[in-house]
Amino acid sequence: MSKASDPIQINHTVVKNRLTMAPTVKFDYAGPDGKVTEKHIAHYRKRAAHGCGLICVEATAVTPGGRFAKNHMGLWEDAQIDGHKAITEACHEYGSVLLIQLNHTGITANPECGPAIGPSAVETGYPNTLSQAMSIDEIHEMQDHFVQAAIRAKKAGYDGVQLHGCHGYLINQFISKKTNLRTDAYGGSDANRARFGAEILQAIRQECGRDFILSVRTAGIEPDVATAIRIAEEYVKAGCDYLQVSTGIEWEEPTVQDEEGHYNKFCSLGVRFHEHFKGRIPVSCVNGINTPEQVQYLLENDLTDTVDLGRAVLADPAFCEAVLNGALFVKCLDCPRCQYGPGMPHKCPAKLKMEKE
Ligand SMILES: Cc1cc2nc3c(=O)[nH]c(=O)nc-3n(C[C@H](O)[C@H](O)[C@H](O)COP(=O)(O)O)c2cc1C
Repeated sequence: MSKASDPIQINHTVVKNRLTMAPTVKFDYAGPDGKVTEKHIAHYRKRAAHGCGLICVEATAVTPGGRFAKNHMGLWEDAQIDGHKAITEACHEYGSVLLIQLNHTGITANPECGPAIGPSAVETGYPNTLSQAMSIDEIHEMQDHFVQAAIRAKKAGYDGVQLHGCHGYLINQFISKKTNLRTDAYGGSDANRARFGAEILQAIRQECGRDFILSVRTAGIEPDVATAIRIAEEYVKAGCDYLQVSTGIEWEEPTVQDEEGHYNKFCSLGVRFHEHFKGRIPVSCVNGINTPEQVQYLLENDLTDTVDLGRAVLADPAFCEAVLNGALFVKCLDCPRCQYGPGMPHKCPAKLKMEKE
């Protein structure tokens, strides 16, 4: 059993509490140069000041072609380091541990940013468009983009990086048999499908050192939980120190919702991973956790090591204080607004309603 205020060690770093800010991209904060803006800095500083133990900065593109859109933040060149340094300095002042999530959109690339590339030639989601299958050389080049971005992240003062291995983006596309039809060393068996991400982890470990935190936000069901756990085992073998568990591309089995309704079926994936990896590496669950009672239930019943908070800390940067000290807070309305549009979190209806009242 643990409490929200209990510290936890990840790799060699002690995180002051069990409350982590989930990566949540800001669709309208950056310009086409992909640089951090004052809005990003203020956004993260505020969440650190209000008690987030660990902050995973949003999905950040490792190449210009891997962005969600032209206003998506990047770490593909050295000129972007200083902006990230401003984020880490602002948040370290409050004792938060800082990771940054590295990403490439792969076959879901925005045509305005670059071509759809991935493990195989498959439908991209854009009309009549197939992705280009990457050659082995292109795979190695792409892995190096992740590694170079991690080296920049270290220079910018991040305590570690997180690979975006879920939600259907490039690393997840290598895992899913639906998008990875390869028959070489990067397709087929679980170990082969995990190889793309695992080799990135190994190379980052070599370049950034033993103490640098390596995390993966992995798909908890791809296409079933047992397979997803075997994939995560490959990441752990490759040096992953900390798993956050979200969703993937394919679902071939029903997920389980806690019968008493303390947590939802997405969150249950993290609970199952925690059960499997208990005592080996810390695991975080996420999704729909937006009351202090839910946080306490998950920790006090030893269902997770850390609790990952997305919309709860967008709706109210001080949500962690509500958990830690019982402060009043603005509750996320669980509306889809922030996921699918620009203007977040400053146009969050829960926040606006509270300000009006
Ligand atoms: C505005 C917004 C942006 C998001 N951006 C990311 C992201 O950059 N990387 C990621 O892995 N997940 C992203 N997510 C998913 C969240 O991290 C989280 O998994 C999801 O919102 C469910 O958790 P919640 O109910 O606590 O919000 C985003 C979600 C939202 C609402």
